[in-house]
Parts: sequence; structure tokens; C-alpha cells
Amino acid sequence: MSSSNQAHGTATQQIDALRAEIVHHEHLYYVMDQPTLTDAQYDKLVNRLKALEAEHPELVTPDSPTQRVGGKVKDGFAKVAHSRPMLSLDNAYNEEELRAWAVRVRGALHSSDVLEFVCEYKLDGLSLALHYGAASHGSAHLQRGVTRGDGTVGEDVTGNVRTIRTVPLSVNAEKLKKAGLPQTFEVRGEVVMPKAAFARMNAEREAAGQSPAANPRNAAAGTIRTVEPSIVAQRRLDYYAYFLLRDGEFLLPTQSETLDALAAAGFLTNPHARTAKTIEEVLAFIAEGETKRDALGYEIDGIVIKVNSVAQQRRLGFTGKAPRWAIAYKFPARGAVTKLLNVLFQVGRTGKLTPVAALDPVGIGGITVARATLHNPDEIARLGVRIGDYVAVERGGDVIPKITEVVEDTEHPRGTREIVFPTLCPKCKEPVVREDGEIDFRCVNASCPARLSEELLHYASRGVMNIEGLGEAMVAQLLGHPLNDPVSLADVEAQDAPMSLDVRDAEMLEESNDTTADEPTRTALVHTVADLYRLTADDLLKLERVGPKTAESLIAQIDRSRSAPLYRVLLGLGIRHVGERTAQDLADTFGSLDAIMTATEEELVRAEGIGPIVAKTIVDYFSIEKNRALVEALRAQGLQFTAEKRVVGTALAGLTFVLTGTLPTLTRDEAKARIEAAGGKVAGTVSRKTSHVVAGEEAGSKLDKARDLGVSVLDEQGLLDLLK
Ligand code: IVH
Repeated sequence: MSSSNQAHGTATQQIDALRAEIVHHEHLYYVMDQPTLTDAQYDKLVNRLKALEAEHPELVTPDSPTQRVGGKVKDGFAKVAHSRPMLSLDNAYNEEELRAWAVRVRGALHSSDVLEFVCEYKLDGLSLALHYGAASHGSAHLQRGVTRGDGTVGEDVTGNVRTIRTVPLSVNAEKLKKAGLPQTFEVRGEVVMPKAAFARMNAEREAAGQSPAANPRNAAAGTIRTVEPSIVAQRRLDYYAYFLLRDGEFLLPTQSETLDALAAAGFLTNPHARTAKTIEEVLAFIAEGETKRDALGYEIDGIVIKVNSVAQQRRLGFTGKAPRWAIAYKFPARGAVTKLLNVLFQVGRTGKLTPVAALDPVGIGGITVARATLHNPDEIARLGVRIGDYVAVERGGDVIPKITEVVEDTEHPRGTREIVFPTLCPKCKEPVVREDGEIDFRCVNASCPARLSEELLHYASRGVMNIEGLGEAMVAQLLGHPLNDPVSLADVEAQDAPMSLDVRDAEMLEESNDTTADEPTRTALVHTVADLYRLTADDLLKLERVGPKTAESLIAQIDRSRSAPLYRVLLGLGIRHVGERTAQDLADTFGSLDAIMTATEEELVRAEGIGPIVAKTIVDYFSIEKNRALVEALRAQGLQFTAEKRVVGTALAGLTFVLTGTLPTLTRDEAKARIEAAGGKVAGTVSRKTSHVVAGEEAGSKLDKARDLGVSVLDEQGLLDLLK
């Protein structure tokens, strides 16, 4: 053996050992939710592997944990036929329908058959098949991930599926043996977007001037068909496995053994699955699921009940497109039916006109809903909704109320009106445009007051420049304009009875807006976000309801934002697609705003986490003169244009903190930054895994929870002592 081969021999061994270790820890972290390493320790392993692989590129294999995120999909997704149709389920909406199903099942089986059910959560995502094939050393590796498609033929979305941390890229021989699996098999299960990831994605979309996704299922489905795996990786999807097949046949004799084998092989299975011998037990499981539903980290919309024995399943067979051996018990939707009174138009930061439904107020799950988003013209067309229609409105956990369908109403068949988009911007009266291939109508007037007010609010918001005191009312005054409410909402609210339909059409909407938009109270003090830095306390004192204290505190807040780190400045610019994560990646990679501004698309896509779409938007943004002028104005005001190297300490490594209440000197963001800079983590909810709760004045339920769980509670000084 030559010396270079010998070197490779050692490198191969090192690489194999590192990969096994990393895969083990990823399984503990993502699947078992029981990490034993700190993030820093884990990163160290990955960095060591990356370095070795960089030295020995010939040893990089597709199932290496460093290879989850691949390149962009070029020519669309390939179509793949399923080994056995991916069916849907029949639904039961109440106990009676469920019992009737059980009676049918019982009747179709031999009287000697012992019937057992498996109850599983019905995860609100999309189903996906994973194909594993034989690889080296007796292992199996992920070959393909395929969407359900029409049930017979799906789409090959492997590149995206590989980024899902709960999808194993390979299963080693030892695990296959333990699980009783061959090297070639197929897994079926559900892709979901956890509620937290959904909330984060929507916050980022809104920050970047995009419309939010309606619910986690749509978000997951859209994400899995994205052509950029780097975006999928950022979104944090999860995969819950529930079926195991080989050559289109179930591999194991029961569903409960299937779930056990999947878990043994390293797949994530839903921990709540349970067997039941009677319908009473099934009903108890359903009731329990309904109470746990809101506390889960992901959305479920019902319970799936499956006959456990595969032999019995065979005897039961299928009807049409659903098996007789399973049924979905659907939870009642959290919705209501009400009347669409009017449609209002909100002008966003990017000029996008969003249609907002003004509803006859209706209570849903304890809150009164008077507005729902209609997203865009396509959504209106899809729903076929008209003003005056009765509509079904639904709301989920943190989801914006949404119109799901038009409800047939034979009593009110007439008198509805088409929803017409205004041709002029309801705020500035400049023409609205809809560019070729674009769904949305936009106001392209860069100085439209509605856009500017949204820009200012975004710039000042929490997580961006954190300028406290610069809320809607203050922005409206600074611009010398009324609030940027959806146009004509006030008129609608003034109606105490459902408004008559002949009152307004789109033109009248614009006219009614004339009166509001044309009453600027004084000339604007601010024309761009950079103008904020020129404001003086005297300027503010001239505004209504602004006393010396408010004025000084706002000026101090604005001044303080000069030292916000580069990534926040970038976020503040409000470039489309650039959310917090992307801004951080950009700042970390390029180190300065000048480097980002002058980077080419090719250079940008080479950076971690930046795909071609994002790269193009960034280049486009900085190619516009007005935007470059804004950057220069901000530079002149002394904002941070270079990134501080993020040096992470180790004093708090492995510790998780939860902050609650108001601390005497530190703001919440400062406390968070200090903890993170010392290697600690900050979480939003208290659990047994929390190391310390840091409580200030008016601490609420988090403090109670900490006491209940016996978690350590510190005050600010206690935290500062730890930081020393
Ligand atoms: S079994 C033929 N189990 O619900 C069996 N499906 O409404 C169908 N779903 O297409 C799949 N959680 O996307 C099964 N625990 C679960 C599920 C589940 C969610 C979805 C799946 C299916 C749809 C049918």
C-alpha cells in the first residue's frame, strides 16, 4: 500500500467514525429530543468532519451528514410511479359514524378474529414516500423521496427531503438488524411544519414583504416543492413515519410492530400512537387527543384509526380510493360561517395590495373575528367569493383567520357583488400595476405614504432595530398622515347592521379614501428611515400628545439603534426574502455592507444559506439608485456597516435560560444577547430541561411553572454573576 493510500485508510476510518458519531447525536437531538451534547460540541464534530472531507473530497459520500443541502432543482421535479397507490382516508365526523365504521369492519371479518386498532394522530401535513436501497457495509441509504401526487404518480423531491433532519440519510446494518429490516424498503409518512417553524417563517415572510402562508400544511406542501433545498433546510420540516413496505406490500404483520420497527431503525414516529381493543378505548384516545391538541408542537386535525393486523387489512380491502381498514376521525374545525361585508385593501411595505375581508363579526374558539386575509387575486378567484357571500371562516393555533369556502345560501342567492381591485393605489392615488407573471397588484410609487409608514414600522420593529416608541401612531404623525389602515375599514365598522351591498363598489372605495388620504395634518418630518436620525426632541415636541419625556426617550432609542449589528441594519432595509437568518448569514460571510452591496449573484450564492432567488433580489435591490442613496444616508448617520466577529464564549455552554418579566437594567434582547454570547441558549417556554429562569418584575406564568417544576430562578444580578 502506498503511503497516500495509508493516509486515506486513516482518513476513511476517521471520517466513518465521525459520521457515525454525528448521526448518533443528530438522532438523539432531532428524533429522541434528548441531546447529550451542547450545540458547540456538536458543531465541533461537524466542523472536524467538514475539514476532513475538504482534505479528501474523494471520500465525500451522499449520505454524509454534511451533504444534506444540495443544489437547486433545474428542470422541475421528475414524476415517479408509486409501488402501491398512496390512498387517502374516509372520514368520520362524530361518534356515530365511527361506530358504524367499526361495525362494518367487524362484520367483514371472521367471527373468530380478534380485532385490535391502532390510534394515531392525524398529522396535518402531506404524505411522502421514502425509498431506501442497499449501500455499503450492509446499510441502506435514502435513494428517493416522492410526494403523493395524484396517489399513483408523485414527484421526486429527494433534494428537499434530504434536508429534513428527521429523515435518516442512511440506516446502518446494526440498526437494520435490530429493526428486522432488509436493505431495500419503503417508508411512508407525513411531512409537517412545526408550529414554531411556521410562526418563524411567516414572521420572516412578512418582514420581507411577502404574504404569509395560511397554515402549516400549506407551508409544508409549498416548502417541499421549493426548487431551492437551502430554503427547505431553513424551514425546519419534520417527517413522521407510519408505514413500512417492500415491493408495494406491508413488510410486517401488524401496524404496531411497524411503528416499533421504524423507531428502532431511527425514524421519527409519533410518540402518541396507542393500540385499542374497543371503540370505547378509541373514543377515549380521541378525547385525549382533542385536549392535548393545542399544546402540541405541530398541528393535528384528527385521529387515524387503523386495524392493527395486516392479514385483517387484506381481508377488508379498499373502496375507491380509501382503505376499509382505516378511518380518519376529524376534529370539528374551529370555524364559523359569516357574511363577507366588504373587501378592503391594505398597502404593504413593498407596495403590495392585500385584500382584507371585512366580516360580520363572529366568535370562533373564544375570539371575535372581524377580518380575514384574502391573500391575493388568485385566492379570490379560487374561492369564487363575492361581497355579500356567506363564507366559512377558520382559524388554527397562531394562524390568521382565513376564508376556506363560500357557503351555498339559497335564501340569499342574489345581491352579491364582484370583488374588484382598485386601479389606483388607495393611499397615494398613483396607478397600481400587475407585472407579467406576478399574482399581486402593487403600488410602485416609491414615495407612497402607505409604503413609507410600513417601512418605518418594519425598521423600528422588535428584532430589527428595536426602536421602542416608534409605533403606528407616532409613524403616522411623523409622516403627517393618518394611520395606514386598510382603506375604508372605518366606514365598515361604522355600520352597526351588516352593511347593505349597494353602498360601495371599488371606485367608491377609492373615493371614500380620498377624504382620508387627502387630509395630511402637516408636512412630513421623515421621508426615509435615515431621516429618523436627524429628528430632534424639538421636532417631536411639535407633534400632538408628545411631551418632553416621550420625545427624549424616542430620540435616545433612535440614537441607540446606531449601534445595532450589521445584520439588523440589513434586515432594516427590508429587502425581499431577506429575513433574520439570511441577514445573519450574509453578515457572517461578507463581513461588511460594502462587500454585500458589491457582491455578484455568483458570489452571493456561494454563501451559506443563500440561494439564487435571494441572491438576485439582493443584487436587484442594490442596483436601484434610491436604495443606494438610503444606504449612504445611513452610513453618514454612523450605523454599523461591518460585522463584529461573533465570538461565542463557553461560560454558559449547555445551559438553557428562560427570561420573564422586566429586568431592572437589561432589556430582554440585551439579556438574550449576553447569554448567547456566553454560549448559553434562551428558550421561550419553561420545561424540566430549563437550567434557570431569569425573572424580573411582573413575571407571569413562566415563573409559576418554574416553581412547579423546581427549576432554578435567578434575578438579574444572579444572571450577571453567572456571566462573570
Ligand atoms: S395513513 C391509506 N396515518 O391523512 C392510508 N395518514 O386524509 C392513508 N395522515 O393522505 C395514510 N396522519 O397524508 C395515515 N397517522 C397517519 C396520518 C395520515 C396524517 C394524512 C395522510 C393521508 C391523509 C388522508
